[in-house]
Amino acid sequence: MRLSGKTAFITGGTRGIGLATVEAFIEHGAMVGFTARKTEGVNAVIARLAKNCVGFVADAGDDEAMVAALSATSSASGGIDVVFANAGHYVNAPLGETSRETLQQQLSVVTNTFMTVQLALPHLREGASIILMGSLYASMGPPGAGAYAASKAGIAALARSFASELSPRGIRVNVVVPGAVDTPSWGMDDLELSLRDERKRLIGERAPLNRMIRAAEVANAVLFLASDESSGLQATEIVVDGGTTGAMAGSPRYVRGEP
Ligand SMILES: NC(=O)c1ccc[n+]([C@@H]2O[C@H](COP(=O)([O-])OP(=O)(O)OC[C@H]3O[C@@H](n4cnc5c(N)ncnc54)[C@H](OP(=O)(O)O)[C@@H]3O)[C@@H](O)[C@H]2O)c1
Repeated sequence: MRLSGKTAFITGGTRGIGLATVEAFIEHGAMVGFTARKTEGVNAVIARLAKNCVGFVADAGDDEAMVAALSATSSASGGIDVVFANAGHYVNAPLGETSRETLQQQLSVVTNTFMTVQLALPHLREGASIILMGSLYASMGPPGAGAYAASKAGIAALARSFASELSPRGIRVNVVVPGAVDTPSWGMDDLELSLRDERKRLIGERAPLNRMIRAAEVANAVLFLASDESSGLQATEIVVDGGTTGAMAGSPRYVRGEP
């Protein structure tokens, strides 16, 4: 029980990495408040997990809804110990083809992450842990993903400034940086099973571990950052990418001489 007695708030908790983190936190004794935009997703998670979690329909860009969700989460136990600002999305935005609106939509992930932390501040206990969601794309230069990469690089920069601002309260701010994680966000759920498996295999080949990362594996890193076990970590990043950045030359595609 690594989060026993703690209260956590997670944005985007109905699918993928956010849902895996809600589950991990509950398993380790936390009371969890989570958000998402769609009512049916929130209701489905509450119906399945029932105990020790409360869900809110709140877009991370809607300050009023976020204030209500944070206040309700906090009031149950008199404060919040962990914030995981996870909500985000990928927008394909190739240079030469991207509208200002699309750019602004993608970059709103930075604004929403900033506001999530700012709105949570009045509820945070001394020694709280804040985890922001980054991405390997921030440092890989993927074509067509400049806006997404910029949003995630911006989030990493936020974490460093937030850490300086919040250290006097003993509040830690760190970033989890996943590689390719097998979640619904890749849009493969509607594909025929064999095609889906083939796509996942090809994506996984970019990592020396030769597979996509599981959402639960990212949740485990977030769990560590949320717990007191990581009490010495401040303004740092934990990369969960199967070795894609650290040992690129070991990936099957690289070994075969493919891009
Ligand atoms: N999957 C990857 O390979 C990968 C790699 C690196 C980083 N990441 C990052 O990890 C985070 C989660 O990704 P995922 O793959 O787990 O995504 P996912 O499976 O699509 O789940 C996203 C979750 O966030 C919610 N959400 C999305 N936008 C929201 C908003 N504006 N306000 C509140 N909730 C919102 C979604 O519910 P609703 O649709 O109902 O709102 C859902 O619960 C994102 O920030 C993503 O950029 C993912």
